[in-house]
Amino acid sequence: EKGGFEHFMLKEIFEQPKSIKDCFRGRLIANDGKLVLGGIREYANALTNANRIVIVACGTSWHAGLVAEYIFEEFCRIPVEVEYASEFRYRNPIISEGDIVIAISQSGETADTLAAMELAKSKGAIVLGVCNVVGSSISRVSHEGVYTHAGPEIGVASTKAFTAQLTVLTMIALRVAHRKGTMAEQRYRSLLAELETIPAKVEKALKTDDQVKKIAELFKDARNFLYLGRGYNFPVALEGALKLKEISYIHAEGYPAAEMKHGPIALIDEEMPVVVIATRDSSYDKIVSNIQEVKARKGKVIAIVSEGDSLIPTMVDFTIEVPGTHDALMPMVATIPLQLLSYHIAVMRGCNVDQPRNLAKSVTVE
Ligand code: M6R
Repeated sequence: EKGGFEHFMLKEIFEQPKSIKDCFRGRLIANDGKLVLGGIREYANALTNANRIVIVACGTSWHAGLVAEYIFEEFCRIPVEVEYASEFRYRNPIISEGDIVIAISQSGETADTLAAMELAKSKGAIVLGVCNVVGSSISRVSHEGVYTHAGPEIGVASTKAFTAQLTVLTMIALRVAHRKGTMAEQRYRSLLAELETIPAKVEKALKTDDQVKKIAELFKDARNFLYLGRGYNFPVALEGALKLKEISYIHAEGYPAAEMKHGPIALIDEEMPVVVIATRDSSYDKIVSNIQEVKARKGKVIAIVSEGDSLIPTMVDFTIEVPGTHDALMPMVATIPLQLLSYHIAVMRGCNVDQPRNLAKSVTVE
């Protein structure tokens, strides 16, 4: 059942080229410039004309929401707020007419997310779901929604569900941007074509496995890790840190790279591994200076860079190359080596990767 892999988590990491493809199969028709999202037909207009989108989720799904915030704001020019479902539900949130709530959940059973949706509904919001499990509570409570179709995810650490959530959210944003006219036709077409190449790019990113394993060997006994990213890669840093924490029990923090100088930089010394997601995008020059700041304090830098980067490898201790893509699609590719890093470190530390202590696959209690 693990398909020859030692753990479900590893199997699910390696399934991603296929699960992303399954997610857009029949929906993304790049040649015709078409996106067919049957799950949001009735509310497509409401979404296009939304004054505001509020995303509610927990954990990894919340990280997917953060990426979606940047995507919706850039592509559709709709203001987005991303809320922890547990915070949203307990503070009498303001929901106005024209607000759309999107709930993201792999299991579709997360108690706080479900309660946040019920609350939003009771205040008159239109609630859309992005779920992996067909027929789950969250999918039933939402007015409409889009399934991620990543297939069953068994490992407690979410991997393929995350990249499928990003795929769905990107498709929704592109659909809305196109209807709304906030994205030029040519750019829309090129993004559809680029999205279609992501499974092959993820496949290539998976080829870093051996190299990542060697790095894992060197850092498996670290007590702390920092993960830094900017822009679209900031949520990737949060997600990388969460993966490491939950399965290897190493304390890790994700930060927007520029926030480092407001506190966490005090932690950096030669003992501190710092994973920097520094792919070539619009914040590239800025992240290069953040790397310099870490190196000046003797931190050990592991950088995720775009293929062919010749500058960063001269500055850091280790580089892992991933194929380049559009800034907004990079999280799907850049997250792969981070999933592998946490997996290998956890295995080397003798941890139960598929069922880490104190955690459940779906958190049905608040
Ligand atoms: O099923 P959900 O997506 O609603 O679950 C949300 C979180 O509990 C989940 O993402 C959790 O953080 C994972 N263990 C992360 O790997």
